[in-house]
Amino acid sequence: VHDLVRRYLPSALTLRARRAYFATLAALHPGAEPEGDPLLPPRHLLDFVGGGDFLAQGRLHRELFIRHGGLRPEDDVLDVGCGIGRMAVPLTGFLAADARYEGFDIVPEAIAWCQAHISAQHPNFHFQLADIHNRTYNPRGRLAATAYRFPYPDASFDFQLSTSVFTHLRRPALAHYLAEIARVLRPGGRCLNTFFLLADPATDAGPAGRPSQDFRYAMPDGGRSVSPVDPEKAIAFDAADVLALMAQVGLRIEAPVLWGSWRDGSEAPAYQDMVVARRTVAA
Ligand SMILES: C[S@@+](CC[C@H](N)C(=O)[O-])C[C@H]1O[C@@H](n2cnc3c(N)ncnc32)[C@H](O)[C@@H]1O
Repeated sequence: VHDLVRRYLPSALTLRARRAYFATLAALHPGAEPEGDPLLPPRHLLDFVGGGDFLAQGRLHRELFIRHGGLRPEDDVLDVGCGIGRMAVPLTGFLAADARYEGFDIVPEAIAWCQAHISAQHPNFHFQLADIHNRTYNPRGRLAATAYRFPYPDASFDFQLSTSVFTHLRRPALAHYLAEIARVLRPGGRCLNTFFLLADPATDAGPAGRPSQDFRYAMPDGGRSVSPVDPEKAIAFDAADVLALMAQVGLRIEAPVLWGSWRDGSEAPAYQDMVVARRTVAA
């Protein structure tokens, strides 16, 4: 049943149903919301970011940005598809007060929460809404991701990140976003993005094990999805394709791909695959 739901039930429906359920719970039992940390979003918003502990996952990723991406406290940072601030929250304790963090996302409620709770306490953290259509996250959005120009001038950032965003975008949007990332990064700036990457079986068969996602449906515009009716539910791309797209826009791969645990259930540092790249001086 889980397999059929995964393939055929649009995730917008399940996401909406779960959010409505937790919002109703919160209204009926206000004391039942998690307490303690003012930067922990309410449960009906936590659904945007998948499984795992919100604060622990944020801290884990912050360490990966530092260790593998070379993130520094003085960096100006762009978080593409920032959601409800899972990566922003731990960065509030790391970035210097005069370093700038910018995040954008397509879910109005998520951005409103980040502005009210994160920016209110950390004025160097800014969040913007992009009214982009995505079948799962913003079905009424007016803009196509492929037509969206990131709202920042060229060469604005030292570091760009996205976590679990390119796993929900079609290939044309991925190609466009990579070009935008290259545009807004300063020469020498670094980026760390996560993906579901399909490795070339000839060069990397991967350790034994059953992948936790079944990307059986080839998309006409590139990549493979877990669902024929709701492709943006989870999308994977060939590793070689993503690396070639990055090279085309002037993002030079810095280190080997950090393979995630989704492929083999291993003790990899994170669930999704990570690619670190550096903006070359002349794209
Ligand atoms: C699984 S969530 C991850 C959120 C956040 N990056 C995190 O790790 O907590 C996927 C996010 O991608 C956002 N998203 C989907 N399409 C997008 C687009 N075209 N541009 C920017 N964000 C997008 C969704 O709104 C959602 O917040």
